[in-house]
Amino acid sequence: MNHFQRKRGVLHAEDIPLEELANAYGTPLYVYSTATLRRHWAVLEGALRGIPHLTCYAVKANSNLAVLSLFARLGAGFDIVSGGELYRVLKAGGDPRKVVYSGVGKRDDEIGFALKRGVKVVDIESAEELARVSIVARRLKRRAPVALRVNPAVDPKTHPYISTGLKESKFGVGADEARRLYALAAKDPGLEIKGVAMHIGSQITDVSPFLDAIERVLAMVKDLEAQGIRIGHLDVGGGLGIQYQDEEPPHPDAYGKAVKNALRRFDGEVLLEPGRVLVGNAGVLVTRVLYRKKNGRREFVVVDAAMTDLVRPALYGAHHAIEPVAPPAREEMVCDVVGPVCESSDFLARKERLPAVQGGDLLCVRSAGAYGFAMSSNYNSRPRAAEVLVDGDTAHLARERETVADLVRGEMARPPGRRFGARKRREIG
Ligand code: LLP
Repeated sequence: MNHFQRKRGVLHAEDIPLEELANAYGTPLYVYSTATLRRHWAVLEGALRGIPHLTCYAVKANSNLAVLSLFARLGAGFDIVSGGELYRVLKAGGDPRKVVYSGVGKRDDEIGFALKRGVKVVDIESAEELARVSIVARRLKRRAPVALRVNPAVDPKTHPYISTGLKESKFGVGADEARRLYALAAKDPGLEIKGVAMHIGSQITDVSPFLDAIERVLAMVKDLEAQGIRIGHLDVGGGLGIQYQDEEPPHPDAYGKAVKNALRRFDGEVLLEPGRVLVGNAGVLVTRVLYRKKNGRREFVVVDAAMTDLVRPALYGAHHAIEPVAPPAREEMVCDVVGPVCESSDFLARKERLPAVQGGDLLCVRSAGAYGFAMSSNYNSRPRAAEVLVDGDTAHLARERETVADLVRGEMARPPGRRFGARKRREIG
């Protein structure tokens, strides 16, 4: 269920015609729906009612401050993977005590920042990282709250680029290594063991890999508790898929209930890190058709959005439904929807059947709320799109469109020089 629907044939974001938003803010334009965001949150929370839990929205999916602020007001925690994401969460009014800090490559300065702000837990992904976090914590005269991210070695049956829980992926540590590291952590004065974490992948369309993984992690938790190591929380990660085309992912309600059931005997707090399922279908990308052209038998619709705005089709071969914003024409065409970037991978859709469109028409690219703007870039010196958050009949400009001046911020045409090793050169001279 989302709030991008046709009214009298015209596509709206809640109560506002998308065409009016495009005219007011220009294109390409990301549009998010407050009602859809709220609804997705409420459904997932409803499914988990009755067990102690904290839903930590995965900031990487959509890190706009207005989106983060909405989730913070709904009581969300946050899953972050960098100091930059922590900065955003704090700016948006998020509570650091509800922040889970994941990721395989944390720098000392980022670890220090997270510990000083008092995050809930740092998820550890290697022996070396465990040692580093302890050093940084002791330097700050603190104990770092930690959990180990365990790699449960299950196949989530999704795109290889977004599978993270396989035995040989770079993420997490195997169960045996985790047991060894928990024993080390338990003796380390710089560390305080809080829980255990997992995350097996993204855009998963079946609950069984989640349940298999939970079962494996629970077996380990039992062993640890037998050794006197208390596991206060179990973080099941994110990864629940959404419908882009004809996938049939479990409803968030069914997923939440299955997770709740799998963990009914776990005596602690359950953490979740959903990203895509909360924001994916709460956002669209609106783009304007520039030209039509035909090369050989191939028909192209050239639009003003590109892989720089939405990279998922180019990077993962992902499919996003595309439709005209105006009432669709009856005549159809099969075409490639492509952007202005100088790469053949710059397409939003290939061999797509669309109602006929022409230069000047607006198209709506659906399911763009997750990993859309967040993965955008300035390649080809393209300023990034504006983002608008709609609430009923009111639009809030959540990010201004970048200007060409923004593109060169921090650059200098003739930068002053700084000599290195100058003394040595003088000696030789
Ligand atoms: N927790 C951790 C540790 C993660 O690595 C991720 C996503 C999530 C939570 C949230 O997963 P979600 O619920 O959104 O599936 N750019 C790709 C997706 C990459 C996901 C990376 N990790 C895409 O556009 O499909």
